[in-house]
Amino acid sequence: MQKLIVNGGKRLRGELKLQGSKNSSLPIMAAAILCGEECRLDNCPELTDIYSAARILNGLGCKCRFSDNTAVIDSADINVTEIPEKLMREMRSSIIFMGAILGRTGECTVSMPGGCELGSRPIDMHISAMRRMGVDIRENHGKIICRAVSGKAHGAKISLQFPSVGAPETIILCAVTADGETVINNAAREPEICDLCGFLRACGAEISGDGESRIVIKGKNRLHGCEYRIMPDRIAGATYLAMTAATGGEIILTDACVAETEPFISVLEQTGCSIITYDDRIYLRSGSRLRAVRDRIRTMPHPGFPTDAQAVIMAALVTADGTSVFEENIFDCRYRHTDALVKMGADIQVLRKIAVVKGVPELHGANIEATDLRGGAAMAAAALAAEGVSEISGIFHIDRGYEKIENAVRLLGGDMRRV
Ligand code: UD1
Repeated sequence: MQKLIVNGGKRLRGELKLQGSKNSSLPIMAAAILCGEECRLDNCPELTDIYSAARILNGLGCKCRFSDNTAVIDSADINVTEIPEKLMREMRSSIIFMGAILGRTGECTVSMPGGCELGSRPIDMHISAMRRMGVDIRENHGKIICRAVSGKAHGAKISLQFPSVGAPETIILCAVTADGETVINNAAREPEICDLCGFLRACGAEISGDGESRIVIKGKNRLHGCEYRIMPDRIAGATYLAMTAATGGEIILTDACVAETEPFISVLEQTGCSIITYDDRIYLRSGSRLRAVRDRIRTMPHPGFPTDAQAVIMAALVTADGTSVFEENIFDCRYRHTDALVKMGADIQVLRKIAVVKGVPELHGANIEATDLRGGAAMAAAALAAEGVSEISGIFHIDRGYEKIENAVRLLGGDMRRV
């Protein structure tokens, strides 16, 4: 099992080109199934989750290959409609493929998806939406067997109970080639949903309202292949900004998505960091000691503060001057990183959805284990800020979302190596 060895206490300083978005790439790779032709995805990050998606595609009969952050997917010859349980368990996004396979073939067999353990992560909204679209769904020995009753899904009006990100993506994927019109109410407004719709429009789909809570999709008989550039990863961007802030450093992030990162930036600015944005660049300079964030940090659907950035900003705030309060509203078990931060000297009290972080003067290195993707990134940020050496195990979690994290950190002058 690989580990990250971090010799902390060095200020990060330099310029970093941001990777492409994992959370956009995964549904877009699934969407490539609908084209029946070759698609070329540029700026696709090379991550273990992306390779899992590629294995799913290849298992279905598509041809998917990577070189230099470009994924080329040819979905002309789909001859399988079942995703094996082992692949379903590798990540949560495997469930998104359900909508795309149904859209292309009218049937599919999946099982419960895996992914980070952030509390209960049901798929009830995905399932009930597919049923509304004319899909018969049965469970048999853990397999979820789906078949469009009339051979093809049809449009429907679907109101989600909660602005989920994944559920509207499943619906959109099924709806773009369904019979008639689909309306999704209370959809999430996450930029990655807009990126998926941007890709689908480039393939000939008719979608409007993405980025708003009401999305309308008019089903088309056929889509075609295209070339598309994946948006930058705003969560990886938030992570490198938080790491730099935690170490009192200075960074220019290039190829960043400024507007989409603003909900994070506006909170980070309250710590006293100076942040300037222009075009696709974010410049951050951190003072000697951060200030605690006075307003409660409430995670919310976009454009609220992103749940995926909660852990990494907490890693920066554990050594801030004063007390910061977090409220996690999206997942019921998303403070699993706090034990490791406490082991490094942080003062954090967690009570259900609230975490109270009292800033301490400094952290010390420790042997810690990543618990989930963003929690692992938070541990890496804390280790970079801490005095002494930390050893982080369980880094397969981190590799799911960060492209060669140790290279990015070393480019910025940090001391992190993989052993
Ligand atoms: C996506 C992101 C993930 C992010 C999350 C919230 C990807 C690949 N992942 O995950 O990084 O943390 O959005 O911004 O894009 N829920 C249900 N029933 C469902 C679906 C969801 O109850 O059928 C609940 C979930 O348990 C959770 C909430 O809705 O409490 C939000 O989940 P959702 O937005 O769907 O998250 P994901 O799409 O899995």
